[in-house]
Amino acid sequence: MSSEVQILEVGLRDGLQNEEQKLSLKEKIFLAEQLSQTGLKRIELGSFVSPRWVPQMSQTKDLVIHILNSQKQGFLDSQIEYSALVPNQKGLEEALKTGLKSLSIFLSSTESFSKKNRNCSREKAYQDYQTLCKKALEVGVKIRAYLSVCFECPYEGKVDPKEVLYWIQKIKDLGVYEISISDTTGKARPQELEKLLDLVLEKTLASQLACHFHNVHGTALANVWTAYQKGVRVFDGSLGGLGGCPYSKVPSGNVSTESLVYLLKSSESPLIPKLLKIGRQLEKTLGKKLPSQLIHSPYYLKNSINF
Ligand code: HMG
Ligand code: MG
Repeated sequence: MSSEVQILEVGLRDGLQNEEQKLSLKEKIFLAEQLSQTGLKRIELGSFVSPRWVPQMSQTKDLVIHILNSQKQGFLDSQIEYSALVPNQKGLEEALKTGLKSLSIFLSSTESFSKKNRNCSREKAYQDYQTLCKKALEVGVKIRAYLSVCFECPYEGKVDPKEVLYWIQKIKDLGVYEISISDTTGKARPQELEKLLDLVLEKTLASQLACHFHNVHGTALANVWTAYQKGVRVFDGSLGGLGGCPYSKVPSGNVSTESLVYLLKSSESPLIPKLLKIGRQLEKTLGKKLPSQLIHSPYYLKNSINF
């Protein structure tokens, strides 16, 4: 079991995709550059989805090209792995033009959520991804998979862990390097998560898994700790706790990246003041308070203001 925790920052994608206010390309570039200077090593920049479905992601291609160029020229840390979501062949083709080497696909544990989020059945999405993954792997691009609604579906209710297990097993056959178990509606509690992980870990290594918790009901950090104790070492987080799938029906921020650092690395980590400063700037840009508790903690307001 690896002891090194990895955090995937998903704020530019999951964080912004559901925001009423669409950031300009310039604002996104600024945010991506700032996040790249914190010490984070995995950053999701956006998604190559239909602009009719998620208009907030429409500048992803330009953003990715700009950031990868800056990285190539030595302005950004060469160790950072940038990635983006792709829903289909068209998305893959666009993503490949940018030179990205890491992409993510997304599937659903329930039929209804797949139809709402992907406009097709789970089986059809899976078949499309078979072709997509084959093509991506052939050209040296690695693929991660998200599996949505692993606990509760906004359209079908409670999800049977056996269904989740079935899809995880199938997804492994696509050749992905990591599967992110996603609590899209923030309904998971450590008790349910423990049961699900016990089942999944009978057939899957913890090192093949990541966890993606939305913090709708305040249980995300408890879930992170539960998954950590079960051996999971990769966690998705969003700057300031921003985030949510437009088709999840709930105002569902992600667990904040800064709270992941606090819990899993150190409360004194130099990453925290850097993230808080960027988060506070993002609050100004978006004209709203972000859900992160750390951003508004009197301790950090006093001690990190001068970063
Ligand atoms: P569709 O309407 O069935 O697609 O949507 P289509 O093939 O019929 O095409 C319709 C139009 O979209 C066409 O344009 C296509 O060219 C265009 P038109 O000719 O009518 O002008 N189009 C595209 N444009 C750009 N990039 C593309 C693309 N594909 C088609 N890749 C589709 C199917 C999959 C495209 C649509 O359902 C879609 O984009 N869905 C994405 C929804 C989404 O982004 N959801 C949020 C991300 S997932 C998430 O948040 C969950 C996660 O965080 C984990 C968790 O928390 O659970 C990951
Ligand atoms: Mg999400």
